[in-house]
Amino acid sequence: MTATPTNAPADRVPLPQQAWYVGAASSRLADAPLAIVIHGQAIVLFRDSAGRAHALHDRCPHRGVALSLGTVSEGLIACAYHGWRFDGMGRCRHIPSLRSEQPVKTAPARTYPTAERDGYVWVWTGQGAPTGQPLPIEGFDRYTWLQGATALACEAIMPIENNLDICHAAFTHPHMHPQWFRAQAAGFQPTRYELATDPGGLTVSAPGTLLRFDLPDRVTVGGSEAFRLILHHVPTMPGRCLQHWLLQREPTHEPAAPIWSDKEPEILAQDRRVLESAQRAYAQEGDAFEQSVEADATTLAARRAVRLAVQGRIAEAFPGNRSLCVLS
Ligand code: FES
Ligand SMILES: [Fe+2]
Repeated sequence: MTATPTNAPADRVPLPQQAWYVGAASSRLADAPLAIVIHGQAIVLFRDSAGRAHALHDRCPHRGVALSLGTVSEGLIACAYHGWRFDGMGRCRHIPSLRSEQPVKTAPARTYPTAERDGYVWVWTGQGAPTGQPLPIEGFDRYTWLQGATALACEAIMPIENNLDICHAAFTHPHMHPQWFRAQAAGFQPTRYELATDPGGLTVSAPGTLLRFDLPDRVTVGGSEAFRLILHHVPTMPGRCLQHWLLQREPTHEPAAPIWSDKEPEILAQDRRVLESAQRAYAQEGDAFEQSVEADATTLAARRAVRLAVQGRIAEAFPGNRSLCVLS
């Protein structure tokens, strides 16, 4: 058993920029442009005439109007102000006020690499070309899915920690979580679980519990044929994030086409209540007040993984599988 300090240093850092993030559920991006924000960057998503998704800086290079206010036709996005039209490479292809013999000579809009797979349009927010592809969702095409997104007024690392926090369920999720019912029946019982780190993230396991964190922002709850909830936590603005959730349903032989839900699951609303409360405390007081106990080892390990990933030192820190037992 490894004890953690009761006054752990506050070492939360913003999630890395050099990464793929969920931009939007594929089903949300149809004929109209879609405005998103990742790491404070305003981005517009749209599809070209072949259906390929593109991401541009959501600001017209002419007079600054958000391109997401515009329309898409013939694979080009047209600004709502003076009708300049841009392709997926950010190049201006048409300026209505120019006479036809006048050439279009403007600087392109910034583009972001995109990829579409496993029910999402992914956006690379880093500098330069992407390093690798978005992390696949294993077995995505073998299931049907329910999909949604919940805005949270807290830093993205907070719901990541929360979803790896075994102890909280018995208290935060009355009438919702099996651990709450168990605690009602028999009192709260600390459980021994195993925490294993690896270069991609960490795994937390205990009888009946399996949690996985994959850098930069994915938490997978469960991992069986019967149950899997996959959560991505996209940093939007300082103190805010968007939690994309994907719930595995029945097996299927059809190509996976997740069903979209606008309803916030009650169990996520219960988490949101405590997380937004904590964010208000951190915003007002800083985080030096924090204290930790042994049961916080999973959340502290996630912070550490993120911090080292931001520093480009993840392989150095987690060179191979390493595990320890801790008490929730
Ligand atoms: S501001 Fe976009 S075309 Fe003028
Ligand atoms: Fe929770």
